[in-house]
Amino acid sequence: MKLNALDAIRDGVVRMEHMTVKDFNQRASEMGFKRDHDIFTCISFDEIDQLTRSIILSQDFETKTNLYFLNDVSQHSKIMYNAQTKLLFIIDLSEEEHLKKVKSDVVMSISHELRTPLSVALGNVQMLKDFSTFKDPDSEGMINKTLKSLNKLEKIISQLSLLTQAEFGSYSLRYEIFEPIKVIEEVLSDYQKKIDAKNLQVNVNCPVETIKADRFIIYTILRNLISNAIKYSHVDSIIECNFTENLITVKDTGIGIREEERIRVFERFFRGAESFKHAQGSGLGLSLVKYLCEISGYKVWFESKWLIGSTFYVQLSNNHLQKS
Ligand SMILES: Nc1ncnc2c1ncn2[C@@H]1O[C@H](COP(=O)(O)OP(=O)(O)OP(=O)(O)O)[C@@H](O)[C@H]1O
Ligand SMILES: [Mg+2]
Repeated sequence: MKLNALDAIRDGVVRMEHMTVKDFNQRASEMGFKRDHDIFTCISFDEIDQLTRSIILSQDFETKTNLYFLNDVSQHSKIMYNAQTKLLFIIDLSEEEHLKKVKSDVVMSISHELRTPLSVALGNVQMLKDFSTFKDPDSEGMINKTLKSLNKLEKIISQLSLLTQAEFGSYSLRYEIFEPIKVIEEVLSDYQKKIDAKNLQVNVNCPVETIKADRFIIYTILRNLISNAIKYSHVDSIIECNFTENLITVKDTGIGIREEERIRVFERFFRGAESFKHAQGSGLGLSLVKYLCEISGYKVWFESKWLIGSTFYVQLSNNHLQKS
């Protein structure tokens, strides 16, 4: 097939013979590819040596990088080499990046705009609840429900804006030395009412005295994992929380995660089919944990069996976590 048949597509397609450019479509021609020229003379990017090694060894290659063309133009691109067809694909990601940035700006400004009226509403409803003189249960019930919904809305807004900051790299890590046990205790005290209501036993094992990490990130990770363990546990059960050396584990014997839902739990707004029956939520907790782990260089994963229970793990990287 002649590659000019692919002129209509907006990605560059180039046919290689060893290191030599043999054929290309219109888009690749605009990028500066020239027939019978060596690939090094047409483009440049950080991992070009790996690409040439893959071409020599007849292996597939894929990377996302800033690609520089002869005319000094650069473009954030996905570069893929398919060893079987000897085709090199150059996919322009700059528009995608731009859209991501627009999305981030929209979420951040909407969150910001919503916060002020929401705080006013929350403050007023709270005052109504505290100083309310009418004693009829219907009105009291309505106030409580409104307060609950407003609190939920506030949580969604702060999770979303934190998630957006983490996703777009605008969260700057702040390292400090602190005692992880204090953070665990803080999370447990946030959820004490729920722990008591379900009569849960939470066993904590934290032999590490102090660590150097971003306290807010460790708090948010623990808060979300412990809150899930509480929400999805049966009454009278045990939750184990370990913070050892550089591994956090939160284990429950709750409802577990169905096989077919396992790949979706870190997705934004995903909630398992059963989770609705057990607790309220917005499906943002684990996606936030995942992004915070990514920006901190931590690894998060889980083991779970439907109806048996789940264990979530966070491996803290040695670079970021230093014992003081
Ligand atoms: N410990 C757990 N046991 C069983 N299912 C879990 C557990 N943790 C997470 N899940 C499943 O993964 C889904 C996504 O979890 P995530 O924490 O992101 O959202 P959520 O708990 O539903 O809501 P949110 O955390 O935003 O309040 C949950 O709805 C539930 O189906
Ligand atoms: Mg959750």
